[in-house]
Amino acid sequence: MNISTIRLPLEPNSWRADFPILSRPVRDGQPLVYLDNAATTQRPRQVIQAIVDTYENHYANVHRGIHWLSDQSTDLFEDARQKISKFINANSEQEVIFTTGTTMAINLVARSWGDANIRTGDEILLTEMEHHANLVPWHQLQERTDCRLRHIPITDDGQLNLATLDTLLTDRTRLVSITHVSNVLGTINPVAEIVARAHAAGAIVLVDAAQSAPHSPLDVQQLDADFVAFSGHKMMGPSGVGVLYGKQSLLEAMPPFLGGGNMIRRVKLDRFEPADLPAKFEAGTPPIVPAIGLGAAIDYLLQVGLQKIHDYEQVLTQYAHETLGRIPEFHSLGPAPERKAGIVSFTMDGIHPHDVAQLLDRHGIAVRAGHHCAMPLHKKLGITASSRASFYFYNTPAEIDQLAAALEDALRVFRRR
Ligand code: ALA
Repeated sequence: MNISTIRLPLEPNSWRADFPILSRPVRDGQPLVYLDNAATTQRPRQVIQAIVDTYENHYANVHRGIHWLSDQSTDLFEDARQKISKFINANSEQEVIFTTGTTMAINLVARSWGDANIRTGDEILLTEMEHHANLVPWHQLQERTDCRLRHIPITDDGQLNLATLDTLLTDRTRLVSITHVSNVLGTINPVAEIVARAHAAGAIVLVDAAQSAPHSPLDVQQLDADFVAFSGHKMMGPSGVGVLYGKQSLLEAMPPFLGGGNMIRRVKLDRFEPADLPAKFEAGTPPIVPAIGLGAAIDYLLQVGLQKIHDYEQVLTQYAHETLGRIPEFHSLGPAPERKAGIVSFTMDGIHPHDVAQLLDRHGIAVRAGHHCAMPLHKKLGITASSRASFYFYNTPAEIDQLAAALEDALRVFRRR
């Protein structure tokens, strides 16, 4: 691929200027090469400004005050919910629950829907490529209910083996909970197909969209998913806010998860009546400013264009596979680039993944190393750890060249030892 002759789906440099942190030097004055976007992305000035503006001009608690400032704060907070609702094409804002992130959203479903609906012997179908956030809440549910957890296996090239689905989906399967995009392999899973097959078998589906919502168009009605979870901080919003989308009928039938203020209609000394959606699942003071910041991040994402982001990251990923693949010691995990999102996890012959990350850091290149909260997946792959470069639309082909050069340098360092 001759990257200099390709017409890129978007021009990263025109957006980079909005991200103050991308132009700050790191270490000994080197430019930052930020390739850890699957862990968390950076924020543009517009999001930072929305946060500052809220604190400087509009901040008060929401839904409670009978005063002007509280009304302003409530309007901004509810505007953010509306933006998110449109962004994912929910039926209404009632279906958008603010959480602290994907992890809390999945825990909410496991506690609330799970405890109310799962009985001994019922089955929950997961996959071998899940993040711990989509494993441990179900382990805990298994401890409480003695349900059975089953897993869709992965193929040798890191895709879901859907040939197994007919036998794995049984009349005991109540829920299928799957990641849209693997945070390690980058695999983009055929979620709509899995949803259709799960529904035909009488099961509902939760989609962990933490690694997909920031990078490509997400239409919950088109997917027909029953629950969808994602995090603000992976899509340029603040940390501490995330979203649980749920179909209204399901959310209405579920008992509240956390108890406290805001989630009630009425409280007596010996009982309570829950509020309507979405308040029913938002006990206590919500993440007011993070939610408003997420609303600003969504405005920004729409300006860049989700389809363009997806298409551009495809080019970057193909370029990364091609460029890094020329290094004989480099081995990427997961499928071919056209089947994955902008996540390139890899191992290097003769260098531990943590050492790779440390040596890259000497060049100002930020990547993640370890098990990436996916220990069972690494076990399946026969490794304990990997290094991971993950992209966003502000990354450039030149940064991938820098990554390749730094990996060659790391090999030289290790050969000298
Ligand atoms: N889930 C995030 C990651 O994969 C933190 O790095």
